[in-house]
Amino acid sequence: MKIDFVTLFPETVLAWTDFSILRRAQDAGLIQFGAVNPRDFAKDAHRTVDDSPYGGGPGMVMKPDVLGEALDSVHTEDSFIAFTDPSGELFSQRHAREWSKKSHLVLVCGHYEGIDQRVADEYADAIVSIGDFVLTGGELAAAVIADAVARLVPGVLGSPESLDEDAFADGLLSYPQYTRPPEWKGRRVPEVLQSGDHEAIRRWRRKQRLLATRARRPDLFAKAPLTDEDIDLLRER
Ligand code: ADE
Repeated sequence: MKIDFVTLFPETVLAWTDFSILRRAQDAGLIQFGAVNPRDFAKDAHRTVDDSPYGGGPGMVMKPDVLGEALDSVHTEDSFIAFTDPSGELFSQRHAREWSKKSHLVLVCGHYEGIDQRVADEYADAIVSIGDFVLTGGELAAAVIADAVARLVPGVLGSPESLDEDAFADGLLSYPQYTRPPEWKGRRVPEVLQSGDHEAIRRWRRKQRLLATRARRPDLFAKAPLTDEDIDLLRER
């Protein structure tokens, strides 16, 4: 798989993808990252990439001709092109799962007050926000998306079982984790986790996931498909 960023600040996004698990994934040939800078496609001596908005208002808008050429230099028929934009649909684990199966993902980072709408109309397969807050630019959003997608590419994570345990894997949050020492600042690791009783541990973890989701994310809990066992676990004292 290849992920290309279209960004005015290639060093910033590639700094995120060049460490740790994603570095190893690149070295193993599982995934490649690249970046295209629209500024390299500017047409004047000042390398202008933006202009004032039609209709007036504050800020600047990224020019469609320049951004379009940058996109043309990187996309193919097989590319999936996503724009980062706080006004986009909310990016979620579902998107990450779907996009991890694409052979080429192009992430377009918005800047200034935004991008000329015609570029998205022409190229966008998706327009996504990473949350209900506004960043100074799309680079962090694109890096977040690339990370969430890349870790789902087969082989990128050392142990694929850890994917089944992910928060959201089945619509529930994760259970809490503990490691040695068994007591720290007077706080003890739950007895059941030290019992060696795998069935009891499985039930305890499932219950923790249900309780956490119900308490912190009632929106997810309302949609979660509960089993008969889940209902029993929630009735337990
Ligand atoms: N650009 C600025 N804020 C953003 C957000 N929340 N999500 C995606 N792109 C953005």
